[in-house]
Amino acid sequence: MMIFIWAEDLNHGIGFKGHLPWHLSSDMKFFKRMTTGNTLVSGSRTFLTYGKPLPHRKNIVLTTNRQKQYPEGVLVLHSVDDLLTYQEHHPEETIFISGGAKVFASLLPYVDELVRTRIDHEFEVDTYMPTIDYSLFELVSSEPGVVDEKSPYPHFFDRFTRK
Ligand SMILES: NC(=O)c1ccc[n+]([C@@H]2O[C@H](COP(=O)([O-])OP(=O)(O)OC[C@H]3O[C@@H](n4cnc5c(N)ncnc54)[C@H](OP(=O)(O)O)[C@@H]3O)[C@@H](O)[C@H]2O)c1
Repeated sequence: MMIFIWAEDLNHGIGFKGHLPWHLSSDMKFFKRMTTGNTLVSGSRTFLTYGKPLPHRKNIVLTTNRQKQYPEGVLVLHSVDDLLTYQEHHPEETIFISGGAKVFASLLPYVDELVRTRIDHEFEVDTYMPTIDYSLFELVSSEPGVVDEKSPYPHFFDRFTRK
């Protein structure tokens, strides 16, 4: 099972200057809760934003760079085909794809579920979610997140399955 997990703003923006454009504690907690105990795949740029492998998850980094060293325990894969082979050999794993844009774009044909946080706000962004044909997916749940001082923007946790 392959699942995309991401947060986007009203314009499908996801990143700015190599980081998230917002601070939204509720979404960080949601991301942790969803991905803990599972496999997490990130592009080399998104992995940089974590600073270290995320605990209690199997960390996989996608990169074309065969020289760069990653911390112990991180599995480095070099192509979509490598990841599909990994998935074939680990059918019991739930594989969360955590972006960024390049990784989402290359895995869009293979994703089974979408876990999207929709933030009801416009931010300054330079990286966008690739266009998703939502007619291929069914919205199975949509829950509002709690807005408070640490999560100051209205946001919704949406889940889609492939039809
Ligand atoms: N809002 C969200 O939910 C969310 C989620 C994730 C990221 N972001 C934001 O998005 C931005 C980063 O996204 P990005 O699109 O610039 O970078 P990215 O997708 O994280 O990383 C791109 C790099 O990943 C590697 N890569 C991607 N696809 C590959 C493939 N098919 N095969 C092999 N390697 C592959 C390449 O690494 P090499 O160059 O090393 O070969 C590529 O340069 C940041 O601002 C981040 O904060 C936001």
